Amino acid sequence: MATSCLLPCIAVLFLAAFVSSSRNMSLGPIQVDVPNDFSYVCDPQRFRQQGLDMDKFTYCNKSLSYQVRAKDLVDQMTLDDKVQQMGNSAKGVFRIGLPKYEWWSEALHGVSDVGPGVKFDNVVPGATSFPTVILTAASFNQSLWRNIGQVVSTEARAMYNLGNAGLTFWSPNINVVRDPRWGRITETAGEDPFVVGTYAINYVRGLQDVQGAEQSSDPNSRPLKVSSCCKHYTAYDVDAWEGVDRFHFNALVAEQDMLETFNRPFEMCVKDGDVSSVMCSYNRVNGFPTCADPNLLKGTIREEWDLHGYIVSDCDSIEVMVDGHKWLDDKGDDASAQTLKAGLDLDCGDFYPDYLKSAVLNGKVREAEIDRSLNYLYVVLMRLGFFDGIEQYKSLGKGDVCTEQHIALASQAAREGTVLLKNEGGALPLSHVSKLAVIGPLAKATELMLGNYAGIPCQFVSPLDGLTKVGQLLSAVDHVIYQPGCGDPKCQNDSLILPAINAAKDADATIIFVGTNLSIENEGLDRTDLYLPGYQTQLINQVAAVSKGPVILVIMSAGGVDIQFAKDNEKIKSILWAGWPGEEGGLAIADVIFGRYNPGGKLPITWYTNEYVKQLPMTSMPLRPVDGYPGRTYKFYEGPTVYPFGYGISYTNFKYEVTSSPASLRFTLKPYQHCHSQNYMNKDQDSPCPAIIIEHSACTHFIQVEVTVHNVGMRDGNEVVMVYSAPPPGIVGAPIKQLIGFQRVHVAAGQNVKVKFSFNACDSFNIIDAAAYNLLPSGTHKILVADESVPLEVNFDY
Ligand SMILES: *[C@@H]1O[C@H](CO)[C@@H](O)[C@H](O)[C@H]1NC(C)=O
Ligand SMILES: *[C@@H]1O[C@H](CO)[C@@H](O)[C@H](O)[C@H]1NC(C)=O
Ligand SMILES: *[C@@H]1O[C@H](CO)[C@@H](O)[C@H](O)[C@H]1NC(C)=O
Ligand SMILES: *[C@@H]1O[C@H](CO)[C@@H](O)[C@H](O)[C@H]1NC(C)=O
Repeated sequence: MATSCLLPCIAVLFLAAFVSSSRNMSLGPIQVDVPNDFSYVCDPQRFRQQGLDMDKFTYCNKSLSYQVRAKDLVDQMTLDDKVQQMGNSAKGVFRIGLPKYEWWSEALHGVSDVGPGVKFDNVVPGATSFPTVILTAASFNQSLWRNIGQVVSTEARAMYNLGNAGLTFWSPNINVVRDPRWGRITETAGEDPFVVGTYAINYVRGLQDVQGAEQSSDPNSRPLKVSSCCKHYTAYDVDAWEGVDRFHFNALVAEQDMLETFNRPFEMCVKDGDVSSVMCSYNRVNGFPTCADPNLLKGTIREEWDLHGYIVSDCDSIEVMVDGHKWLDDKGDDASAQTLKAGLDLDCGDFYPDYLKSAVLNGKVREAEIDRSLNYLYVVLMRLGFFDGIEQYKSLGKGDVCTEQHIALASQAAREGTVLLKNEGGALPLSHVSKLAVIGPLAKATELMLGNYAGIPCQFVSPLDGLTKVGQLLSAVDHVIYQPGCGDPKCQNDSLILPAINAAKDADATIIFVGTNLSIENEGLDRTDLYLPGYQTQLINQVAAVSKGPVILVIMSAGGVDIQFAKDNEKIKSILWAGWPGEEGGLAIADVIFGRYNPGGKLPITWYTNEYVKQLPMTSMPLRPVDGYPGRTYKFYEGPTVYPFGYGISYTNFKYEVTSSPASLRFTLKPYQHCHSQNYMNKDQDSPCPAIIIEHSACTHFIQVEVTVHNVGMRDGNEVVMVYSAPPPGIVGAPIKQLIGFQRVHVAAGQNVKVKFSFNACDSFNIIDAAAYNLLPSGTHKILVADESVPLEVNFDY
């Protein structure tokens, strides 16, 4: 499949020297059509060159609305013309001056050449490559998420001007991490739907928003810097596990989980991010391929959430329906007719161009449905300035890609995401070490740090480079000895362990770099266990056993790993999770290790023990404990973990004070409003008015929570304040708790910072019941912040 990145995504391994000016990258060998060899469509000179008079084409008349112009464009096309515009490689219509356009570009964590819309060459040899999303998510810093989007869209727009990129980027991936084995955890913002949705809003707004035009009375004419796409809709989080793959998988999902977990980030992305595209996924949900489900597409995205943009299929999804799912035994024209009627506007693939014409001619779908989709598509291109240009981006060019500030933001993101998991006796940060042993198959990681959906970076700083450079700069290290311990991340034999042991024996400190890479967890590759690969565990234990100095373990992975053995090992003083930290990863890790930066990241996923994954198949979709399986995510799983969701410590210590008001809320029900029943574990608990249905309530009640964070340690630090709500006890199927707000703050040593939150009662204290009603329960809710707990009484007068 196209998005599974079977293409040589990154064709060139290039290890740049540490010097930040080294940008003379080698070129990737992929040659793609230049997507645009002009600045914008409605340029009179361009028309003249084609022997056309632009004034005769109403779609170029800037005094008309985008809707009117798009309609004019579509109405001049024949059926043949139309279907040629409905695949990702739109052919254009020379006769009416419409050029070709490649819809498929990607920018998950930097402009990437995974899609054919982007190319790197002599002019643009690379673009800034940020950490993979799971690490950036761990920063829990919304302004960072937005800033990265802004930088990526600046580079994207510059590359568009140079003919190196399109304007429509099929990023971000906002699927929720339901199972720790999933191969695409790296692409996502973790297991909490609220965090994932909040990430989506910020990244999408960073990519899309034109400064000064963020809001508009007519969202269909709001200008776009680049167009973003929230994917993959929906309940999509099995890639390939024990013989089950996404091209055949039918996810059985309860409406309760759909509303509460799988669709929530998409709803936030469309309603609050005002994204201009949504991509449907490969899998089926309750029997229907998602791209062919009119309820999921037209009903939910288009009507209920009011998308201003287009719906696109994952690449070759319609073919997957026919050949993988064999849905209804459809052939190409039936399948294409069904997806079009369901609300799928653009096919990443060839099925629409190949089959829609015969589908129309055979009476399977109305041609007007094609017109409607094309209108959505052209309005988005108009908002992007594809037809008219956008003045403020005209001057962007080569000098706006891989700038010093952009590269600095990539290293900042990696520092902010890094999570300190263990630090016995303050072993970190390292002060002076005479002899430093750097061990492990990931110590020289370069390309590995980019993960998937990467482009060619501006440069690389490997962990070994970073430690050497920063160590020398701070005069913190005299000698560095490096031993890989294993030949590669799979670490399939122990032949290189002995030299690693010898290196650690007389070193004053030992840092071991272990973890995974794309050969272990990736798109199309789910894990079957949560252990470190191959002999990595032996390497760590044997090196730790003989080390003279403190041992610091750095885990570079996307998903969680069961490192309970290292957590329990007294010789291992410190553990850091550094994710796959992007092109500047080694610098960020060194800054943390030598104390130039005090880490403040928190885990955006639960790190389960390996026992956990033996207890339930990846294909079981429910979040709640069912069928004897444990629940999933911190909301529904209370068993043992290696590290829980939200875990992360600092080189300093924080103390919290929490106040909230009011302490109780009274709702007076309207005459037409009724109390709703609720299922309690203990029938005695039943109250006369257990809950109200939120949809029926105006719900203007707000709770103010103020958290004072005291830095009671000796170092300045960064702390993520996380606020949870917990529903009244005893309600069947209610979550243990749910995150309702978070904010990252910097607090100087000995100082305090006040963080304020305002929560709407119905948005933050609700539960979704088994019948998929969104309810506000009466009784004593709790507001939880770190170890603090504040009660909130909710009552109804009826
Ligand atoms: C553009 O549309 C406006 C409004 O309908 C009209 O007055 C004007 O003549 C049109 N321009 C051209 C070049 O057709
Ligand atoms: C959040 O990220 C921004 C970069 O966008 C950074 O300037 C700021 O310091 C970060 N906040 C904290 C508390 O780390
Ligand atoms: C052990 O692994 C290394 C590196 O992966 C490889 O080069 C070597 O051939 C392997 N040795 C044996 C005995 O399998
Ligand atoms: C990932 O690890 C595998 C096996 O250990 C290795 O063959 C491959 O080159 C590695 N890829 C990257 C990008 O590090």
